[in-house]
Amino acid sequence: MKKPLNSNFRRLGLLLVTTLILVTIIHSFAQAAAPRPIRVVVDGTALTMEATPQIINGRVMVPFRAVTERLGGQVNWNGQERSVSVTKGETALRLVVGQTAATNRGRTVTLDAAPVQVAGHVLVPLRFLGTGLGYIVHWDSATRSVIIRPAAEPRAGGIVNLYTSRHYGVEPVFTAFTRATGIQVRFQTGADAVLRERIRAEGRHTLADVYLAVDAGNLWLAARDGLLEPINSAALNRNIPANLRDPNNRWFGLTQRVRTIMYHPDRVRPEELSTYEDLADPKWRGRLVMRPATHSYTQSLVASLIAAHGEARAEEIVRGWVANQPILIDSDTRILETLAAGRGDVAITNHYYLGRLLEANPAFPVKVFWANQNNRGAHVNVSGAGVTAHAPNRENAIKLLEWLSSAEGQKLFADSNHEYPANPNVASHPIIAGFGNFRRDPLNMAEYGRLQEAAVRLLDRAGYR
Ligand SMILES: [Fe+2]
Repeated sequence: MKKPLNSNFRRLGLLLVTTLILVTIIHSFAQAAAPRPIRVVVDGTALTMEATPQIINGRVMVPFRAVTERLGGQVNWNGQERSVSVTKGETALRLVVGQTAATNRGRTVTLDAAPVQVAGHVLVPLRFLGTGLGYIVHWDSATRSVIIRPAAEPRAGGIVNLYTSRHYGVEPVFTAFTRATGIQVRFQTGADAVLRERIRAEGRHTLADVYLAVDAGNLWLAARDGLLEPINSAALNRNIPANLRDPNNRWFGLTQRVRTIMYHPDRVRPEELSTYEDLADPKWRGRLVMRPATHSYTQSLVASLIAAHGEARAEEIVRGWVANQPILIDSDTRILETLAAGRGDVAITNHYYLGRLLEANPAFPVKVFWANQNNRGAHVNVSGAGVTAHAPNRENAIKLLEWLSSAEGQKLFADSNHEYPANPNVASHPIIAGFGNFRRDPLNMAEYGRLQEAAVRLLDRAGYR
């Protein structure tokens, strides 16, 4: 009797140990799989909140009470209406659980994500709350932190706020500007159309002093919609060539990107290449890699064809491209990698994507060909900026644009993305200087905006998707 009892105990012990080990393993796996909790950092200190923030539909949602109170607002919860009211000075925000329609000082605003109730706590979109209370809200994906800083504060030199779709490499540039002027730079990033919509919706109460965008078409749309105020600046007029800025001085190109022909030298000899128009020749059938019609880069290129040839001839050219059955890829980097991998022989991309790939790998097997050198020149576009119509810090905004057009600003800003400076007196980054000299289409950038709708319709008619 003794032995079986003993072995039963031993079996039970073994079972317990095994279970314990399993539980430990599962627990550590679960911990490894769970994303780090989101932190909300105000003035450098992480906030303690009544519930854990969450990302819903790509938006950071936070429990409203701790955040509002930390940002100096008063909050009121109406359980019957399931609404949150937030006040601070003139500010009055109202949000309702489950509804994307919110109000800011009585004006209706559409939220990207409706407030939700999770385990007894109401979570609201942090950006709407923070911006409404006069703060700049910046998401840092690396640390999964939301950084909240005052949009305006009394400080020597003051501040300038940007809404920018250009997010690569901007921080060192702004740090250098602050060093030079004492003006602090705050910025929020987003897609161009979304940022324009935000400036429009915020109206007189916008925090944005500067709208910084890629592609002249976006700048043109902002100007057309009355979001930008003209600037009368001798420095900007001197530093930025006339074709790279708005004829009415509402926006200024700051860096140049050239959309041109790229090829794999094992499969194409440069003598076979000439123009964008020539890529419609049947000899390129099945050999082209291009960006879809939905991207503004394609639309601006086609706008430049319309400007050069008129709509009928431009459509013939685009139909020729389509007949060559290009591979369509919505990323210039992936287009170049596709060429390198042996799919397709010739592509059209912006030059700096090749610059980046060459910096990472000097043996990257794709070469640049400057298009249309025997006629109007290669297609140029810009990233650029304008000062908003209701800029709270207009003088600082103009100072920022002027500095960005100066030798110091141009060098940093253009080099951060291997772009050509807009200011002709500033030298290019060595990698792209190595692409050689070339002729650029002198067309005014504003034409890309003016002809954008016609280009979109033409692409559709020609069956370019
Ligand atoms: Fe780009």
